[in-house]
Amino acid sequence: MMEWPRHIPTLTDGVITLRALEPDDVDAVLHTASDPDSIAFTTVPDPYTRQDAVDFVETHSTKVWPGFEVAIADADDALVGTCGLRIRDDESAVTEIGYMVAPWARGRGIATRATRLLIDYSWTIGAYRVALDASTINPASRRVALRCGMTEEGILRSAHLGNGGIRHDVVVYGILRTDPRT
Ligand SMILES: CC(C)(COP(=O)(O)OP(=O)(O)OC[C@H]1O[C@@H](n2cnc3c(N)ncnc32)[C@H](O)[C@@H]1OP(=O)(O)O)[C@@H](O)C(=O)NCCC(=O)NCCS
Repeated sequence: MMEWPRHIPTLTDGVITLRALEPDDVDAVLHTASDPDSIAFTTVPDPYTRQDAVDFVETHSTKVWPGFEVAIADADDALVGTCGLRIRDDESAVTEIGYMVAPWARGRGIATRATRLLIDYSWTIGAYRVALDASTINPASRRVALRCGMTEEGILRSAHLGNGGIRHDVVVYGILRTDPRT
């Protein structure tokens, strides 16, 4: 069994910090989640309103079970994205990662850093496997998974019905506690 946290953890690699969401994050959450790629490749409401951002920040500033969503903050403590770690299967000690980065902060390795922090954190709470799903047509996310040492394990055809009624073939990525470190 995993030792799931009772409070939202703060995790840093010295460049980015994963921390609890705060009311000041609402504007950046709104602009990040309403971006067309975020709408296409995640499960955010479409259209995404300011109230959705307010509700998201309020709910996830303290919620940890069965997963937590945190701000990815830069050196100035500004939100440059959000990411989450969820329990996919408690008995089997499998967690699952998701993320979105603000359009203005993409291409700088932020999602890669955040994912590495969540993978390392998963081992500290007793996870055996960390999973990540990405649409076949989301090259940026697929690159993040591979850069974090995850293995591409297969494709689930038409497994996800996304916003706009578009079906996605889903690439399954996984990393095990016993895999060699990259
Ligand atoms: C996916 C996402 C989180 C990546 O965030 P990011 O901080 O820009 O990611 P990183 O900079 O860590 O890495 C992105 C990698 O993808 C590559 N990449 C970006 N766009 C690409 C494209 N169209 N084709 C191929 N590679 C691409 C980048 O070059 C980089 O690889 P590199 O470091 O080897 O050069 C961001 O694009 C996003 O928020 N998208 C919308 C939401 C989303 O898709 N979430 C994931 C759902 S599974």
